Amino acid sequence: MRGNLFSWNRRTGQRCKQFVITSAGSVKIRILLFCCIGFMLVLLTSFAASFLRFSDFAADDRFSGSRKGYTILINTWKRNDLLKQSISHYSKCQGLDSIHIVWSEPDPPSDSLKKYLNHVIKSNSKDGRSVELKFDINKEDSLNNRFKPIADLRSDAVFSIDDDVIFRCSSVEFAFHVWRTAPDAMVGYVPRIHWLDQESGNRDYYIYGGWWSVWWTGTYSMVLSKAAFFHKKYLNMYTYEMPASIREYVTRNRNCEDIAMSFLVANATDAPAIWVKGKIFEIGSTGISSLGGHTEKRTQCMNRFAAEFGKMPLVHSTMKAVDSRYIWFW
Ligand SMILES: *[C@@H]1O[C@H](CO)[C@@H](O)[C@H](O)[C@H]1NC(C)=O
Repeated sequence: MRGNLFSWNRRTGQRCKQFVITSAGSVKIRILLFCCIGFMLVLLTSFAASFLRFSDFAADDRFSGSRKGYTILINTWKRNDLLKQSISHYSKCQGLDSIHIVWSEPDPPSDSLKKYLNHVIKSNSKDGRSVELKFDINKEDSLNNRFKPIADLRSDAVFSIDDDVIFRCSSVEFAFHVWRTAPDAMVGYVPRIHWLDQESGNRDYYIYGGWWSVWWTGTYSMVLSKAAFFHKKYLNMYTYEMPASIREYVTRNRNCEDIAMSFLVANATDAPAIWVKGKIFEIGSTGISSLGGHTEKRTQCMNRFAAEFGKMPLVHSTMKAVDSRYIWFW
């Protein structure tokens, strides 16, 4: 009776005969069909429902004028094409208040670049929104530049981002909402982990773990500042309160400013970072994480910083924030 479904189509003439003979089988098929249709209906309604709820949600935010948005703090280096792409994208996002470009190149930004970006922002600003665009020009080329305090920042929330990663506006808004429930925490999309090396004898030695380790254990202890929200007060703390030796180490090694920021926030809050689900689109092709020796360098940084802090401040977590409108089974 298993072949019936197929023979049904092919040999229409014998359909009735077989249908009668194998009525037990056809009952099963009908039940299966009903289940399929039912499932489709459930899917359709939940799609429609989530769409409706999404519109409500968006409208709700747009009209509550007193709420402050967030500032994008974008770090770039000699990749104007990527910068243009990123800013063209993010300037469409709803809660965006201002964009600060951390500029550390020897030459100042060209007039044509400024003109282009201003034009893009203007044409993407709807509903009377006016997004502010500023270049923060630095003389020295150091990775610490990305965490320099910004004078008269209009929002408390800073969304720190590299020029070569893009997240959908809906993901950004969601992470921003998560951050508002925990404004002291670092809230981001790219989790990393550390653990204590068991084989190092009685000396505390920490190992840095990348994407694989997070996936395998479901645990993380930091989120990278290449895509994370945090409070603007941490810019001050990073630049003026954190031990200068850590900033010097970051400048010298051209690495690990994100680990230093994670240490700083964890030490200040005694709490873990928050990992938010969000699909990452990488638009550049040369990430340093793809180069060899990356994990060893990161491990060295972590042990160095732990020594400077006098302890390991990072706290492990297994929590991942997801937008419940997009998950059906729970
Ligand atoms: C870590 O936090 C404590 C308590 O808030 C503070 O006193 C200390 O200076 C911080 N350590 C560093 C290295 O910032």
